[in-house]
Amino acid sequence: MNKFLKQSFNLTVVFFVTVSCAQSKMHLDKDKAIEERITLLMDQMTLDEKVGQMNQYNGSWDFTGPLPESGSEEEKYEHIKKGWVGSMLSVRGTDKVRAVQKIAVEETRLGIPIIFGFDVIHGYKTLSPIPLAEAASWDLDAIKNSARVAADEATAAGLNWTFGPNVDISNDARWGRIMEGAGEDTYLGVKVAKARVTGFQGTDLSANNTIASCAKHFAAYGFAEAGLEYNSAEMGTSKLYNVVLPPFKAAVDAGVRTFMNSFNTLNGVPATGDTFLQRDILKGAWNFNGYVVSDWASIREMVVHGYAADGADASAKAVTAGSDMDMESHLYVKELVKLVEDGTVDEKLIDDAVRRILRVKFELGLFDDPYKYCDAEREKSVTGSEAMNDAVLDMAKKSIVLLKNDGNILPLKKSGQRIALIGALAADKNSPLGSWRIAADDNTAVSVLEGMQEYKGNTLVYEKGTDVSLGQQLFVQEVKINSEDYSGFDAAKKAASEADVVVMVLGEVGFQSGEARSRTELGLPGNQQELLEAVFEINKNVVLVLNNGRPLALPWAAENVPAIVEAWQLGTQTGNAVAQILYGDYNPSGKLPVSFPRSVGQCPIYYNHLRTGRPVNSQDNVFWSHYIDSQKTPLYPFGYGLSYTSFKYENLKLNKSQYTKGETIELSVEVTNTGNLDGKEVVQLYINDPVASIVRPVKELKGFELVELKKGETKTVKFTLTDAELGFYNNNGDYLVEAGKFNVMIGGQSDKGLTGQFEIE
Ligand code: NOJ
Repeated sequence: MNKFLKQSFNLTVVFFVTVSCAQSKMHLDKDKAIEERITLLMDQMTLDEKVGQMNQYNGSWDFTGPLPESGSEEEKYEHIKKGWVGSMLSVRGTDKVRAVQKIAVEETRLGIPIIFGFDVIHGYKTLSPIPLAEAASWDLDAIKNSARVAADEATAAGLNWTFGPNVDISNDARWGRIMEGAGEDTYLGVKVAKARVTGFQGTDLSANNTIASCAKHFAAYGFAEAGLEYNSAEMGTSKLYNVVLPPFKAAVDAGVRTFMNSFNTLNGVPATGDTFLQRDILKGAWNFNGYVVSDWASIREMVVHGYAADGADASAKAVTAGSDMDMESHLYVKELVKLVEDGTVDEKLIDDAVRRILRVKFELGLFDDPYKYCDAEREKSVTGSEAMNDAVLDMAKKSIVLLKNDGNILPLKKSGQRIALIGALAADKNSPLGSWRIAADDNTAVSVLEGMQEYKGNTLVYEKGTDVSLGQQLFVQEVKINSEDYSGFDAAKKAASEADVVVMVLGEVGFQSGEARSRTELGLPGNQQELLEAVFEINKNVVLVLNNGRPLALPWAAENVPAIVEAWQLGTQTGNAVAQILYGDYNPSGKLPVSFPRSVGQCPIYYNHLRTGRPVNSQDNVFWSHYIDSQKTPLYPFGYGLSYTSFKYENLKLNKSQYTKGETIELSVEVTNTGNLDGKEVVQLYINDPVASIVRPVKELKGFELVELKKGETKTVKFTLTDAELGFYNNNGDYLVEAGKFNVMIGGQSDKGLTGQFEIE
């Protein structure tokens, strides 16, 4: 090459390098619209790099699923450096997040930041009550605030994406993950879904203390047959549309940025490979423009289900169905490039997935400052702060449900009493944290014993009576339960014999509910029932405080024990919350978000079941819908919960008795606090459509109001009903509001209240 040509060649190279460098940074221009920035970036991405964005690896510290079949730590780092990792899960703490982000941003060709996901299910390190317990508050502002503070603490630890909320409706107490949702009712589930999404995401996703949220598990995971974890779900269109999908739709309407699909099959199709759910409904009818992450290895598991021949087939089916990101199957990164090159998968599907993922990263502001969540100073000041603890204590008190209080044994007198506190769970500082508490340090909950010790006026004697858990409570291990050691019974009985009141804290340990914790028995585990009966024989003044992550079936206790407090697993401030309720410094106002069965044989039991043809024993013979060995009603119904005061309902009024379709129905009821204490009541409105083109539930919640009433005070509580509450989806998935009569009931629980009627012409 002559000198001139060489010089001009060099100039040309310099020109192209300069132009391409200039181009490569244009997506960083904050003044451009996000969609344009995505296009500018995607134009520069190779197919490898695009597929990389669809790959999510777990960090090496916390495992929340089976260990992957492939992928060493070194390989993961290699892949990050190549730009083949779009997201990491369970990498937490500003130092670790910063270190991984640095590789992505500074060592890869395009410097695309990683999005860091984590299961912030009921808090990060400072824990709120388990989600089922929070739902028992029926207090949407409190639930939203709980998600808000969780986002604050999680983002301070480097995270920018939570795998929550879990919006799975479930009515099966056997299923361990019932603790993660809002219970059995769709209307309540819709409201709670919205509260949690808006709490996590706030109004500005780009702020450094808001977090992208994830509605999961799409769909019908809560209907796993027989409550058996990872089992199949079967249901028709009307149940899917009326019961399962509305909380997911509510999450979309509230702006949720991501979805997670589920492990189960729905009507024979693994949710991860379900085009109808992910493309037709979510991304089609609902117009969702965020992205869908698979559940842990659920793409690979389609092979085990027998729905895909091998990893390549599973990848093709998952991406075609609309699963945008592969969590820990290690398959997209291995298979998708080949599948596009050989024409099996259309590159447009990859482009669509990548655009969705990048959109959320841009919205979070990760391209503007990839280290915005990595402020070690903020981490130090926010984590475990007093404000954080105050917030979770407030939520914990609101989540407690008073199930029984015969003879007003509660609240406890504050002085002059000898109180025996019995049960290993009373002194347990770990169990109250519940399941999904990966970032919380062990034994950081305030125990009930510690909470009660704050009240100094009484003599408090503690005896554990029996151990509950003998095993390590590690997330991945089975819990071993004591049912053989009775050596603590005598000391417990002695303490009871000398006490004025006995408080017994019994129930499940923290890891007896949650993922992979299905149960076939719903009684008190181990020999706790025997302990309860032995103590009760000595002293009848028993207050039973329940710790549990699911409804328990406790007919003996309900019949015999004078006071029962449902305290679930209330998180970091458990003991303080329980003590304040027991001593009456907080008046309980929680209501059950799920029916409590009499026995496991009633499961699934739920208040809004369809009408049967033989509901009652009208002829005094055997041919009606019942059990021959049990009542068919629940032990405690949905919506039930007592207070230390009492409420009276009067004057249910409707503004008219006949309406035309589309008209708003206005209802009101007067509620009076008839007791001696100020209190709160959840006023609930139920409707029933007695004749319809498909059989409708016996009743359905369609409105509720949490009202505060001073003692003696009366308030008029107003409700409105519109087409949104009156209609239903039929078996074709069409939403119908049908003319005819409707029954309405307003009261303080699902099985009792004032009734009325109206008609739609
Ligand atoms: C599996 C669970 O089903 C899901 O809810 C969770 O987010 C992932 N593991 C990640 O931990």
